Amino acid sequence: MFIGVTGYNHESSAALVDKNGVLVDFYREESLSRIKGDKSFPKRSIKKLLDTNKIRIKDIERVAFYERPLSAFLHIIKEASMHMPKSLPLLTHQFRNFNRSSVSCYLDFAKFFKGLESKLIYSDHHLSHTLTALPYSNSKKDICSVVIDGFGDRSTASISQVVDPTEINELWECPYPVSLGLFYSSITDYLGFAINEGEYKVMGLASFGDSNSKSAKLVRGLMDWDTTSNKIISDMSFFDYHLSTSNSFSSKLEELLGPARNPFVQLIQGDSDFQRCADIARGAQDLTIYLLGKIFTHAHKITNSRRFLFSGGVSMNSASIDSLAQLPFVDEIIIPPSPGDSGCAIGAAFYCYIKSNYYSDLKISKPSLFPSRKEVRNDEYLTEQIISNEFSVLERDEYDAFLNAAELIKAGEVIGTVLSCSETGPRALGNRSLICDAKNKEAVKNLNTVIKNRSPYRPTAPAMKYEIAQKYYKLRPEISECYKSMGATCKCLENNLSLDFPTTHVDGTARIQIVENNSSLDKLLSILQPMGIDILANSSLNVSGDPTCFDLVDGLMVCSRTKLRYLLTDLGLLKRKT
Ligand SMILES: [Fe+2]
Repeated sequence: MFIGVTGYNHESSAALVDKNGVLVDFYREESLSRIKGDKSFPKRSIKKLLDTNKIRIKDIERVAFYERPLSAFLHIIKEASMHMPKSLPLLTHQFRNFNRSSVSCYLDFAKFFKGLESKLIYSDHHLSHTLTALPYSNSKKDICSVVIDGFGDRSTASISQVVDPTEINELWECPYPVSLGLFYSSITDYLGFAINEGEYKVMGLASFGDSNSKSAKLVRGLMDWDTTSNKIISDMSFFDYHLSTSNSFSSKLEELLGPARNPFVQLIQGDSDFQRCADIARGAQDLTIYLLGKIFTHAHKITNSRRFLFSGGVSMNSASIDSLAQLPFVDEIIIPPSPGDSGCAIGAAFYCYIKSNYYSDLKISKPSLFPSRKEVRNDEYLTEQIISNEFSVLERDEYDAFLNAAELIKAGEVIGTVLSCSETGPRALGNRSLICDAKNKEAVKNLNTVIKNRSPYRPTAPAMKYEIAQKYYKLRPEISECYKSMGATCKCLENNLSLDFPTTHVDGTARIQIVENNSSLDKLLSILQPMGIDILANSSLNVSGDPTCFDLVDGLMVCSRTKLRYLLTDLGLLKRKT
């Protein structure tokens, strides 16, 4: 058995691959600790892998950390040391926290799982991303991997040629500190949203912006592609993320764009500063789409490939994927369901497997958006106590529970789901979701504002079967896999009814989900379609700011903290008593 681990910098996670090259299990630490974005050493996740799969440390052949920590540490130190004395606080922080950084992962393995430390190897950060994406491709050979994130352990973007899983050759990189991912995070920070969480808000806000506005053009000019050297270029004097522990952008950016938005004041459409912020977001989105186009064009030029893996945090910018699909040389783009750093545990586990004597093929059985094991409730007694005190069980039989849930959705209700396993990636795809009729404006509004407290400029995803999506949206076959995990937005067809759906964004796009065959939403839609409902609005089951629910207790807690009344579970359809 092989374990891959991420942590310390972004969300922690752990994955398990068996000797046949099959991804067996995967946990994100935040799911278990209930701390949003938990980046601590993933001891709960590793313990859960061992306990759930009944394996001992001696059964583990190798464990891989998802990056080379010393390389990451030295690159940051090297860059900061060139900007003394301004960077002195960052340098001091880096050295003071040396023992708590990812460099110490060896010690944490020894402390929490004695014996694993001697089996520890390190995978290159971007190679971990590539190996997370590669199993989702039908063919594992002759494909180009594009990785773009904030910062790996050497670079911030890379292009690799995948000859086969054992021969992956990096052909181009963007060296730190120039970084499309950190640029987008800096604009997120400038606009008053939390880095690593608020990027979705910037993307949604951009649709209200004007590309021809002065603010958008100023942001658009912050980075460029140099056609002579084939490099991304950036005036780093507008940013401080490489010099400071607390500031991502410099005072020069505020001189250029005006004062940064106060993060403690809610941004509401119609406010005096709303349009300026939307225009800045538009500029960031335009620049991202432009640079992605340049990087993919260069990737095609140097690899001659027409098929691409795309991973790293920037690949979660779903609003830019439709543009990439229109590039004339693109036949296919595959984005894994968990393309950010938390998903890298999967690639790191596969890295161990490829380096072993057991290597034959990488396997993630499709549909494979979930770990293969059904989640077992942590505390059965607690769960039953909560249910008997707070809930009524309306239906226990699975089909009848789904039928009853469908009738409630038809009547305009919002339903929560805690079914089978949780999703691998950050997007809830039906097993840990809040769902309602996507064409019922009152129900969608209720889901968004009364239960979720979402920003109004962040639309909810519509989920449907493929044949229904064809009736409403301009689908692109090049990115058909991306639609399964909400990895790409698409445009509504011209003069189509979908333009008026409450799940449609202000720019006439929607972040659609095409449901997998035999998934929870597929089963529900099979019952709903004869009732006249063919699209479900789908959002993650959580209270704003919390991690998505993991087990049934989490789902029951959401009910008790919100106005959600119905929960569709493996135990049946539950209704809150009060
Ligand atoms: Fe990354």
